[in-house]
This record gives sequence, C-alpha cells and structure tokens, in this order.
Amino acid sequence: MRGIRLCGSGAAVPATRVSNVALSQRVETSDEWIRSRTGIGERRVAAAEENLTGLATSAGQQALQNAGWAASSVDLILLATSSPDDLFGSAPKVQAALGAKHAVAFDLTAACSGFLFALVTAAQYLRCGAMQRVLVIGADQLSSWVDWSDRRTCVLFGDGAGAVAVEATSSQNDALVGFRMASDGSRGENLTLSQHAERQELLPGISAQQGGFTTIAMNGQEVYKFAAREVPAILQQLLDDTGTSASQLDWLLLHQANQRILDAVGDRFGMAAEKVLSNLAHYGNTSAATIPLMLHEAVSDGRIKSGDLIASSGFGAGLSWGAALIRWDGPTS
Ligand code: UT7
Repeated sequence: MRGIRLCGSGAAVPATRVSNVALSQRVETSDEWIRSRTGIGERRVAAAEENLTGLATSAGQQALQNAGWAASSVDLILLATSSPDDLFGSAPKVQAALGAKHAVAFDLTAACSGFLFALVTAAQYLRCGAMQRVLVIGADQLSSWVDWSDRRTCVLFGDGAGAVAVEATSSQNDALVGFRMASDGSRGENLTLSQHAERQELLPGISAQQGGFTTIAMNGQEVYKFAAREVPAILQQLLDDTGTSASQLDWLLLHQANQRILDAVGDRFGMAAEKVLSNLAHYGNTSAATIPLMLHEAVSDGRIKSGDLIASSGFGAGLSWGAALIRWDGPTS
C-alpha cells in the first residue's frame, strides 16, 4: 500500500456577489436574520455566460499550476457535484477543457459530502497503485436549483468550485491519516433536489416519464440537528481510530453550512475560534465546493502551512456525512 500527498489547491467563484441586503429586496428576510442564524453575508451567483464546467475547470487549472503538474500527467479527474451542466456528467468536459488527455474523468454525487467522499475515493486509486495523479474537484452551482422565492433555503446557498491535486507517495508519508464515511437514506427526505416526472403517453397503453427536477427542499431544523449530532460523533470516532487528540489538530475544516454548527463543533473539541476555518460570510453554502474553497483560501493566505494536521468533515443531503484527517503537504505562501 502506498500513501497520498496533497500537492496543490485551486478555487474559482463567479464574479457576481449577492448581499443579504440585496436578497431582502426579493424575499422577506434581513441581513440581521441571515447573519445571526447562519453567518452568511453574501454569496456568489453564476451569470448567464458562466457554468459549472467553467468554474470546475478554473479551479482545476489553478490546482494543477500550484502543484506544478502538466495537465497531461493527470490519470483521473473526479468531479464532486450535484449540479452538473449535463446529467451524463460534466467531468469529461472539464477533462477536455484542461487538456488532460490521458485522464479518465467522471462525476461523483454526494451533495455536500461530495468533496470529502471524492478525496477518499481518489486515495483508493492512488494507494492501490492503479494511478499516480488525481485531480479532485468539488463544484456546485446551486443558484440554478434553489427556489428564489423560498426564504428558508435561498439565502443559504451560493456557487463555487475548489480543487486539490493529489498524488501517490510512500505509505510512511500518507497525508490521509484516516477517514470515515456514512450514509442514511432513511433520513434523506430532509434535504432533497428530486426529480419530478411528467407522464406522457408514448403509445396506447404505454406511458413514459419526461424527466425534470424540482427545487431544493430542506427541513432546516432536522438537518441542523443531524449535523450537530453526527459531525462531532464521526470526528471523535476518527480521532479515536487514529489515536489523535484534538489538541494535535492545527485546523478544523468543516463543510460551510452554518456558523453556529462550526462554532458548536469547534467548542466540542476545544479549538480556538481562529482554528475553525470559516468563509461562510463571503460565499454561503457552496455544497461540494465549500471544503476545497476554504482549504485553498487558507493555504493561499498562509494560514495553513506544510505539515499542518487538518480535521475535515462534510455532511448534507443523502443524508451523508464523513470525516477525514489530512496533512497538508503542498506549497504554502
Ligand atoms: O449543506 C447541507 C447542510 N445544511 C445545513 O446544515 C443546514 C442546517 N440548518 C440550518 O442551518 C438552519 O436550520 C437554518 C439556517 C436553515 C434555519 O435556521 P433556524 O434557526 O433553524 O430557523 P427556523 O427554520 O427554525 O425558522 C425560524 C423562523 C421561522 O419563523 P416562525 O415560524 O418562527 O415565525 C421562519 O419562518 O425564521 C423564519 N425564517 C426566516 N426569517 C427571515 C426562515 N428563513 C428566514 C429568512 N429570513 N431567510
């Protein structure tokens, strides 16, 4: 068995900012309500000429550049997204746009846990020796899928992409110190973006379903309770698995859904507030993108340094959740 090394990161967000104050012109809400309940101040929204593939490609390109990799050296591109431009998958379009001509590329759908699940998946290909270099991208454009008249959900989400270049290394230097993943479909109805099928008569006596999708529907309180319970539990299990104490952690890098969740988990592990990474104020919940977007920001501004130990957790629709203990080993500013 080999190990993995995180070599470089990248991120991309649309240029258009929508502030809480601006949103309050559309739905009955306020900057005060949104900030105090979630920590969100503004979010980015893709313009007509932007799309998921473009955001994912820009983030991927930057990660390749920061890792010093040629696109042609990548073996696999894993695109974690729940909002592809094409239901058949957007990863191959990213592969083509990057010029990663030797890479196989496919999408992985696990909502807000998507990046973490994709990173763990990438590690399996690398550890077993099947591949040498993987580009893991988390990207979502949920602005296309929220109901902009539903104040309970539309204030929460934004668009963005983040990426990490990951390569195989020796097992002694494995940057994925441990991981755990979980799913519970029996609670899945609490957060959905489900299909609505319209029946159409195909032939006499035979009907087919014309597909389409509804908008995001969430039972916020139930999802909040789920996250507040499961995230600390899975992180604790991971610390126990790996014989790590919370005091050894340099950073807590959680899915950015709600500042109250970040604060509660940080308190639970006795982490100082500045060690609990947060950029919710600027981007809101970008689903599969939150973790790599935050990682890239903290690496770029010099907070995360080579050798730092990071406890990360993703959680969301499915329901799905997971945790990973990772050591950053890429370039730092
Ligand atoms: O990425 C996947 C993971 N997602 C999450 O982790 C999200 C988890 N859930 C949450 O973060 C929180 O539940 C929310 C931020 C979504 C909601 O906060 P809350 O404190 O649970 O509020 P609530 O749903 O209990 O609503 C409280 C009140 C309600 O009014 P009444 O019934 O008390 O009169 C809502 O109608 O706030 C009202 N409300 C709003 N008011 C102003 C709901 N949304 C808004 C809004 N602006 N945008």
